[in-house]
Amino acid sequence: MRIGILSAGGDCPGINAAIRGVGKTAIVEYDMDVVGIVNGFSGLVEKETIELNEQLLSGILTLGGTILGTSRLKPFKVVDGEDPQHKPGLIKKHYEELGLEALVCIGGNGTQKTANLLAQEGLNVVGIPKTIDNDIWGTDLTFGFDTAVHIATEAIDRLHTTANSHKRVMVIEVMGHHAGWIALHSGIAGGGDVILVPEIPYCLESVFDCLLERSRKKKPYSIVVVGEGIERASKKSAGAYIAKQIRKNTGLETRETILGYIQRGGSPTSTDRILATRFGAHAAALIHEKQFGTMVALRNGEITSIPLEEVGGKTRLIQPNNSLVLKGRHLGVCFGDCSEIKQKS
Ligand code: F6P
Repeated sequence: MRIGILSAGGDCPGINAAIRGVGKTAIVEYDMDVVGIVNGFSGLVEKETIELNEQLLSGILTLGGTILGTSRLKPFKVVDGEDPQHKPGLIKKHYEELGLEALVCIGGNGTQKTANLLAQEGLNVVGIPKTIDNDIWGTDLTFGFDTAVHIATEAIDRLHTTANSHKRVMVIEVMGHHAGWIALHSGIAGGGDVILVPEIPYCLESVFDCLLERSRKKKPYSIVVVGEGIERASKKSAGAYIAKQIRKNTGLETRETILGYIQRGGSPTSTDRILATRFGAHAAALIHEKQFGTMVALRNGEITSIPLEEVGGKTRLIQPNNSLVLKGRHLGVCFGDCSEIKQKS
């Protein structure tokens, strides 16, 4: 068999481990030919490929980013009155011309949605969930997430020492798009006093009360962890907005750090390497067994697969009864709940 692999959407550590997992399993176990598609779906539109052999797959397990490159091209999204079938038509044509018999799509929500549409057009597709946001429906975990949490936690650890030296409130904004998984996990791991996530509506008053209470108790400093996607009445970034509101309303000396793309860079953690490798190897097995129109997933510690049509258009968000949120509340972490506002005495 001759299979294609592409990586699309935001990059993250672990993509190369997944490419290696698919490629080496396909070559070594199933004697397949492997074609790398360059820069996500645009590589299929432009017919830009590289033959992936064992030599090219060697030494990439620990490498951040993606050796194939990526893009956020959505081929089914109509642009400037273009014929809706133009790009999908080119993809199908080039898929045939390249002699592909299956296509592995490594990506986030948008990528899996496109993969499902291509499957409905008759391509043999298997998806691999990838994102630091950890917000893909149907899998308990995506690779990229553990590395991002590790990076964010290390940054929070560093903020504790400078906050303590200056007796300041330190606000750190982390990524996650519309989901708060990175903020929640790094906030708990990093000892955050306040954790704001998009899924839990917050009241600024509640945040102020928490920080002023800590100040009254002579706590030398506070750490506020903010998911970038929280609701806010401002065009400012979430971190800058929250820091400004704290300064303005509590008088506490406050600084903000926007962690940004550092969370997407560098070598993957061992957890991400292992998960990405497991996902990649399973994708190759699904192709061998001709189980197309599926996405690999981690469910209760086991690698499995689910129909791609179940994934598209959904986002896996933090539920109100999330056990880590409950444990955080019991530790005294403030999630900004409006019910926590102290009655003005
Ligand atoms: O989806 C991963 C992610 O890093 C999000 O957390 C973030 O909001 C977004 O990508 C940034 O997108 P871009 O890389 O296009 O700036």
